[in-house]
Amino acid sequence: MNVIVTGVTRGIGYNIALEFIKRGNRVIGISRTEEELEKIRKEFTLSFIPIKADITDEKEIDNIFKKLRDMKISADILVNNAGVGYISNFCDLPWEKNKKMIHLNIVALTYMTHKFLEEIKNNENKGIINVSSTAACQSGGPLFATYYASKSYVKSFSNGISEELRDKNIRVMCLLPGPTKTTFSGMEKAEGFYIMNASKVARIAVKDYFKGKEICIPGITNKILVAIGSIIPRNLELKILKRIQNRK
Ligand SMILES: NC(=O)c1ccc[n+]([C@@H]2O[C@H](COP(=O)([O-])OP(=O)(O)OC[C@H]3O[C@@H](n4cnc5c(N)ncnc54)[C@H](OP(=O)(O)O)[C@@H]3O)[C@@H](O)[C@H]2O)c1
Repeated sequence: MNVIVTGVTRGIGYNIALEFIKRGNRVIGISRTEEELEKIRKEFTLSFIPIKADITDEKEIDNIFKKLRDMKISADILVNNAGVGYISNFCDLPWEKNKKMIHLNIVALTYMTHKFLEEIKNNENKGIINVSSTAACQSGGPLFATYYASKSYVKSFSNGISEELRDKNIRVMCLLPGPTKTTFSGMEKAEGFYIMNASKVARIAVKDYFKGKEICIPGITNKILVAIGSIIPRNLELKILKRIQNRK
């Protein structure tokens, strides 16, 4: 199968690509950095097709699908993984950075999904994995408000289209990782029992996708934290979350 993975050069995206390749699939990897893409191409040779694109630019997304058509490659699975987060008081964060989060985490993901579905010729083995976050299960994110809100969008959007696409046999899974050690904002130096590594998150995600799951929360600690979050009072939850983000 051909699997498009956005944000493929590092972290969770790289590891998801690796898991699909290990299972004999071919990955079409998207990111903005040509040299990093080239390194991955050399690592996986024929199993990896790099496409350099900044997916916050709609024309660059159009170009990804045009290139695939030109290469006569039809994508079977789309992994909307690329995402960004900036920790800050909402007002202190420059508007451009807020806009970038909304653009990459919401607009680009939605447009990639629309284009992918437009291109599908038959529905056999087709599917989408949207990367949200356990943040989407919480009441909100003080000091990370736009990011948390964007990940809630991803969860809600995924649930909505998963029901719409069920009749067409196109599967949609929403992946909700908890804190994961990657180059993501505040996570590079993060330590603690609750921090997972990206390879484990990806292994669980791809396994759950092939099991047919629609929601994947990797790791028992994250599942417990989500369950606790759903029963503690909203004000208390927000105070705890503010303290956590403050430490980052
Ligand atoms: N790490 C965590 O704790 C955590 C927790 C929950 C959810 N998540 C979610 O998991 C996803 C992956 O996060 P990560 O931690 O693996 O992040 P990461 O290490 O920062 O990697 C981000 C990837 O996205 C690519 N990217 C960024 N902007 C892009 C753009 N405009 N167009 C195309 N590619 C772009 C980057 O490559 P280039 O710079 O080369 O473009 C890179 O490959 C995100 O959606 C994040 O919100 C992360």
